[in-house]
Amino acid sequence: MRKIISADRIPGMMPAPQLDYLAEQASLHQRVVEIGCWRGRSTRALCDNCPGTVTAVDTWLGSPGLEDEILFMEEISQDPDWLYHEFQHNLAGVTNLEIVRKSSLVAANFFAMEKKRTFDFIFIDGLHDYENVKRDISAWLALLETGGVMAGHDFGFPEVKKAVLDVFPEFPVDGIADIWVIDKQARSTK
Ligand SMILES: C[S@@+](CC[C@H](N)C(=O)[O-])C[C@H]1O[C@@H](n2cnc3c(N)ncnc32)[C@H](O)[C@@H]1O
Repeated sequence: MRKIISADRIPGMMPAPQLDYLAEQASLHQRVVEIGCWRGRSTRALCDNCPGTVTAVDTWLGSPGLEDEILFMEEISQDPDWLYHEFQHNLAGVTNLEIVRKSSLVAANFFAMEKKRTFDFIFIDGLHDYENVKRDISAWLALLETGGVMAGHDFGFPEVKKAVLDVFPEFPVDGIADIWVIDKQARSTK
């Protein structure tokens, strides 16, 4: 039984069926990383279902398109770092969470060069413009274990879709309700 009740109480961009997809993937993997966590809605779905560790990578400084919400929340909370504090609050008590407050590419380099760690489920939901999605996929693909799964949000955004299809031209992208998915096992055998 997948657990998304706590996640579904957290404001965010992801509808419940997509939270359920993340929960299912998390339940099948041990070393999960999410790039772009916002207030923690998707992160909570991953943590509540993962038998291993979930690494949350974000600057918690926001992204283009989210400026209005950030300014509004900054004003009503009187806290310039409200987003990070809210993420911490929404994930309070979760014991399988590792927070890495770095930008995506710096974090990927940190895991590759310093920590020498890989992941078996990588979920990308940081910046959504063509160049950055391509950069994120390339940087994190190097950290994906054979047999692991890479996925990302907002396949319906034209720039995201183009970037994904440009990086994986010869492999089918299995889009699940706005989530794109690449299975590394399938990529290496098809
Ligand atoms: C669309 S939101 C993520 C939504 C979240 N996954 C959810 O479902 O609730 C994008 C997030 O990416 C973060 N972000 C933007 N640029 C980033 C970068 N270069 N590296 C890491 N995180 C970044 C923003 O701070 C923001 O929290």
